[in-house]
Amino acid sequence: MKGTKTLTIIKPGAISNEYIGPILARVNSAGFHIAAMKLFKFTRTQAENFYAIHRERPFYASLVEFMTSGPVVVAMLEKENAVEDYRKLIGATDPSKAEEGTIRKLYAESIERNAVHGSDSNENAEIECDFFFAKCERFSNFE
Ligand code: CMP
Repeated sequence: MKGTKTLTIIKPGAISNEYIGPILARVNSAGFHIAAMKLFKFTRTQAENFYAIHRERPFYASLVEFMTSGPVVVAMLEKENAVEDYRKLIGATDPSKAEEGTIRKLYAESIERNAVHGSDSNENAEIECDFFFAKCERFSNFE
């Protein structure tokens, strides 16, 4: 079966709590290949564009503020069924509703400071990986 990709962001709260290592260990243990990865700091314009789909939501300004408050880790992950399997691994957006053992249940602080992002579809995974990574920064098992 052809592998697929997803894009994850380890968010500023999880970075300042020193959770990069524990989160990446869970990502690898769940069978994902890390095909590209870097520390990155969003400019305001980049964060506004990345989250443009939420522009009309009441939490948009606060979300942009939070996502520009410090560095993030961005990574392109590969696995069969990557988008769906990664969303299962991270759990519900609201950590109080996330299942035991999921990354958000373990490492999130609130619905906004929810530790990690995961793409919600294959189409968005392509768009989001293109946002962060040039071809020469990708070490894919599939492409
Ligand atoms: P994520 O799904 O990665 O991308 C959109 C982000 O918006 C989401 O993570 C949360 O960080 C944030 N978010 C979503 N819903 C809410 C909400 N109701 N209140 C505050 N932040 C939210």
